[in-house]
Amino acid sequence: MTLLSDGFTVNLKAREVRSYKIYTGQGLLDTIITWIGKSYFGKQMVLITDTTVAKLYARKLLERLQDIGFQVLMLEVKPGERSKTAKVKEQLELTMLENRINRYALCIAFGGGVVGDLAGFISATYMRGIKYIQIPTTMLSMVDSSVGGKTAINTKFGKNSIGAFYQPQAVFIDFDLLNTLPKKHLINGLVEAIKTFLIRNYRVFENVEEDLTDILALEENSLNYVVQLSLDIKSSIVAADEEEKNLRMILNFGHTIGHAIEQVTQYKMLHGYAVALGIMVEAQISVLLGKLSADSFERILSLFSRLKITPKLLQNLDIRQIADVAMGDKKNNNIAGISCVILDKIGSVALDGDSVVSTISYSTILEALRIIQVRIG
Ligand SMILES: NC(=O)c1ccc[n+]([C@@H]2O[C@H](COP(=O)([O-])OP(=O)(O)OC[C@H]3O[C@@H](n4cnc5c(N)ncnc54)[C@H](O)[C@@H]3O)[C@@H](O)[C@H]2O)c1
Repeated sequence: MTLLSDGFTVNLKAREVRSYKIYTGQGLLDTIITWIGKSYFGKQMVLITDTTVAKLYARKLLERLQDIGFQVLMLEVKPGERSKTAKVKEQLELTMLENRINRYALCIAFGGGVVGDLAGFISATYMRGIKYIQIPTTMLSMVDSSVGGKTAINTKFGKNSIGAFYQPQAVFIDFDLLNTLPKKHLINGLVEAIKTFLIRNYRVFENVEEDLTDILALEENSLNYVVQLSLDIKSSIVAADEEEKNLRMILNFGHTIGHAIEQVTQYKMLHGYAVALGIMVEAQISVLLGKLSADSFERILSLFSRLKITPKLLQNLDIRQIADVAMGDKKNNNIAGISCVILDKIGSVALDGDSVVSTISYSTILEALRIIQVRIG
């Protein structure tokens, strides 16, 4: 090989600091239309949604936008994970090209996490990137996808294996949309919010214990603080460590085991339910390591049991298989054990040196799984 120069430097301006607003409230349709009208008047729009959300809400938004003179291309995908594929992505992109959608267009991602991830990834790559806003319609997408800029599709090699970090222009969280969301999907998202309080804020965890009935009844003020505070915690963590070098990994609390449970159940268990079980196991590990008190552990289990998530869900699963899968988790970089986030109390993560993740031996993982599995209630 012949090197023809010593290498020359390409100087680029530092990446711009990007910020965007997340609006929360009820009956936000007018706010959304006013915001779009102000910022994007005269631009093309692509409204991406799934068929369920289209029937319930998106067609109304489409009509309102068309009434005030916007040119909108609405694209509907089938609901669920099966739409988060390269094939569906390509079909949508080709339709956008056919309809001469240009690079100044605004994409509106209107749906749950599937639509958010898919439409976000399309926005990141269509004509090398177009602007997009998110209107999340599930609790999970409100509390989790609204912050962090992760967009992705699944492949046969794994979930979210191809994607990009791409931030929206704004996010509009309308609690009215939750009225039609099945309860299990409400709980699915609530688990992620509870997780952020477990790692970062004892007081809010305590508030959730007190207000759980109101939250499940979709009482506006309770929903507002749960969503806002969990987004606040997530965004401060993401801002401090956008590329997941250390701190951001605390968001994986419950996920090492949770992802393994999802895989073992072939994704038949909803993500939040698997993460709740993962939290129980990782909290049990924290107890075994002498970090977390038994009282705190019981409070965590008791809160989940009020959401009808109990150790019983683990009963018919093969815990050795779960531990084996966890051992192979892509998030683990060391071979000596499994990387887990450990609590030292509710609202605080135990550090291992400078690291927010600790290396846990296979046998400890198995022991914690066994204790949870045989537990009654
Ligand atoms: N980007 C991120 O940071 C991030 C974070 C968490 C999860 N995710 C991704 O999100 C996806 C899961 O998201 P999800 O749980 O929202 O699933 P989803 O988008 O599949 O929605 C769940 C179901 O609820 C329906 N639905 C959506 N809104 C509704 C409403 N208001 N009323 C009635 N039904 C409604 C949908 O049609 C679907 O059938 C996964 O692919 C996951 O990887 C991404």
